Amino acid sequence: MVYLKHQRGFASDNNATVHPRVLEAIELVNRGHAVGYGDDPWTTEATGTISSLFGGEAEVFFVFTGTGANVISLAAALRPWESVLCAETAHIHKDECGAPERFTGSKVIPLPHRDGKLTPSLIGKELTGFGFEHHAQPKVISVSQTTERGTVYTSDELASLAELAHAHGMYLHVDGARLANAVAALQVTPEEMFTRAGVDILTFGGTKNGLMFGEAIVVLNKELARNMKYIRKQGMQLASKMRYIAAQFLAYLEDDLWLRNASHANAMAKELAQGIASFENIHLLHPVESNAIFARIDPGRIQELQREYFFHVFDEDLPAVRWMTSWDTTPEDLAGFLTALRKSF
Ligand SMILES: Cc1ncc(COP(=O)(O)O)c(C=O)c1O
Repeated sequence: MVYLKHQRGFASDNNATVHPRVLEAIELVNRGHAVGYGDDPWTTEATGTISSLFGGEAEVFFVFTGTGANVISLAAALRPWESVLCAETAHIHKDECGAPERFTGSKVIPLPHRDGKLTPSLIGKELTGFGFEHHAQPKVISVSQTTERGTVYTSDELASLAELAHAHGMYLHVDGARLANAVAALQVTPEEMFTRAGVDILTFGGTKNGLMFGEAIVVLNKELARNMKYIRKQGMQLASKMRYIAAQFLAYLEDDLWLRNASHANAMAKELAQGIASFENIHLLHPVESNAIFARIDPGRIQELQREYFFHVFDEDLPAVRWMTSWDTTPEDLAGFLTALRKSF
């Protein structure tokens, strides 16, 4: 166990605090009794507001976790003989302990990527075997926005993936655990980025960006909403005390807190990347487009630095490390970390 000298750091936005307005919203909703399982006014209001962000026709389902959102969304789209194509960096492939495969019975097929992104040409050669009973049938293209390498798909890039998916009778799923960071980075609306691009189903994440817990599945293709309530219940993601998730989302949506938090996290990452640019022996591995920085550093310095500031090593061979900013990163945090880097390099 690494000794955490600094309580604050750059390991993950999962390590950040809950926004005070979210905590306050939980406290405020904690009055009297309310019908459980989502039949409460807060859930109606929050799901309605999220739906309107996506053009007003979306169906919205709250769940507890990002993994839960992915698994339930994929289960709505897949039968056990069908497959989902994703980047080999995808959370559904690398970091969900096989939950999508276990819950859906479907194959998850990892593909080479560019900076964490898929393109139609990278996917193209996997689009074979349709109708051939010996092949798992490709049914879903899944991408993460932002990606697990901190890059961001443009609306046009998503539209070209949706077009490819639909041309093959497939769906486009977006793991939007960090969707807010992408929307803030490109300054487009969720409706432009996802609904008009033709995305079928996605996660509107909250936990990485100021919530205590809670994600929303946003279903843009009505076909996929049909059985969602049963899938969510079987998938153990139906909250009895739903009002406490809804209240968090109401605070998150009010005055665009979700966008302000994400813009701040992105700005802090840009500033950190600028500070890092002056180090000759730290090499950025991917464009810094949201709140994650991937860098190659001298392996001999990793442990020493981790004793000051814990962070994750992503590729032991390079080695590649990840530093993430979050909604509560401060300029003082950046200054402290840059000082620690100066000491180490
Ligand atoms: C891209 C991405 N998707 C999904 C998740 C899953 O979220 P959770 O840990 O809440 O299951 C994470 C978590 O870090 C993530 O980074």
